[in-house]
Amino acid sequence: MSLLIRNGRVVTAVDDYHADIFVEDETVSLIGRDLDVEADRTIDASGRLVIPGGVDPHTHMDMPFGGTTSADDFETGTRAAAFGGTTTIVDFAIQTKGHSTLEGLETWHEKAAGKAGIDYGFHMIVTDMEDDRLWEMRRLADEGVTSYKMFMAYPGVLYVDDGTLFRAMRKAGEDGTLVCMHAENGIVIDEIVKIALAEGKTAPKYHALTRPTRMEAEGVHRSIAIAEVAGVPVYIVHLSCADALEQVTLARDRGAQVFAETCPQYLFLDLSHYDRPSGRSPGDHDDFEGAKYVMTPPLREKWNQEHLWRGLGFGDLQSISTDHCPFCFKDQKVLGVDDFSKIPNGGPGVENRMSLVYNGGVVGGRLSVNKFVELTSTAASKLFGLFPKKGTIAVGSDADIVVFNPDRRETISIDNPHTHHMNVDYNAYEGTEVQGVSEIVISRGRVVVEDNVWYGRAGGGNFIKRGLFGGPF
Ligand code: URP
Ligand code: ZN
Ligand code: ZN
Repeated sequence: MSLLIRNGRVVTAVDDYHADIFVEDETVSLIGRDLDVEADRTIDASGRLVIPGGVDPHTHMDMPFGGTTSADDFETGTRAAAFGGTTTIVDFAIQTKGHSTLEGLETWHEKAAGKAGIDYGFHMIVTDMEDDRLWEMRRLADEGVTSYKMFMAYPGVLYVDDGTLFRAMRKAGEDGTLVCMHAENGIVIDEIVKIALAEGKTAPKYHALTRPTRMEAEGVHRSIAIAEVAGVPVYIVHLSCADALEQVTLARDRGAQVFAETCPQYLFLDLSHYDRPSGRSPGDHDDFEGAKYVMTPPLREKWNQEHLWRGLGFGDLQSISTDHCPFCFKDQKVLGVDDFSKIPNGGPGVENRMSLVYNGGVVGGRLSVNKFVELTSTAASKLFGLFPKKGTIAVGSDADIVVFNPDRRETISIDNPHTHHMNVDYNAYEGTEVQGVSEIVISRGRVVVEDNVWYGRAGGGNFIKRGLFGGPF
């Protein structure tokens, strides 16, 4: 099977030129002007950007959490990702406390195999790591799981203490892998939550008000300090605020190997969303609309957003992931209707990331088009051992390509069939108008989305064994 993409404006993290791209089977085999080749199919990309498929390094499909399971599984979630122009995800497998991480990996392979419609990798969430288990980490790396996530938040659930953190970090450093950190002081936050509940503060907005930015900054500072001593590069996930960013910037300025991502929710949504009226009749959980935005870290005061954009522009933040972890409002968020601490934490977004970032970044004059590609694809690919297979358009790379219309506008809505394929009953960006839409999405040489129709298949995505951490770039 061969595919010729003609006349497009090819944009990578560093290039911007007009050319044709010839794809044979799963990879790009030729790039040039007016290519003289025959192909099984030709796509005319005139007036379109031709960009590497998005890489979302932070999703939670089919994840048991908060007494329920995230609403997208690997089939619905990866299909929605593809509609939005993302062709690779790195999801999080979980080690059950007291059990082997390898068992956890097996469970996540079972969840994804035969279901994922685009390529995927796994990080491993480490929940305990005694000395006699450290050997597993090298095995995981051999299996292509070359990054871990550890939590300073959620005591009693995913939380690990600093000793565990250090032990695992030291081994990860020896092995050449990368540690991802959920950096929030969960021990102090749980005390603040207890006080709030005792005062009768049960509404969703108290989720945000009990998680001060200083407690995120403290977690960032502490995890970086421990990582420096342990000798491992560290990647701060879902960084939400200026306070936490300052810690990353300080560490990078002194030469520490620190990387960080933020997410669209922290760039486009803010604290005021917790006070949104429901639009339903009074008495019908009418102060519960904010539950849609209960995620961790929470949404912050709006002024933080410009700091995050500046961090992205100046390189202190390297990547934009989604932390896609959807829970249905009616059936799942409602678990916390009388107590915000019982609302399942997480929100949807895997489908809308590329359009949101293009619109807010490139159309908004904050990012160059190359930086847009870097932040949504290339940087994550490099950091997580996928490059140059993923994250660029080059001879020999996987033909994960998006034909992106930079002029087309859509209003993101659960009711707009062009913007919502996620298996969740609300869209966090409801009513947001975006310019820039992924129109044709190609995964390893196969068109999986065109004219808003799904041509991929469950099981069409492959597990990707990722390489070791390749160093700063
Ligand atoms: O609220 C969130 N972020 N849910 C997903 C789990 C995590 O901490 O990433
Ligand atoms: Zn997290
Ligand atoms: Zn997450």
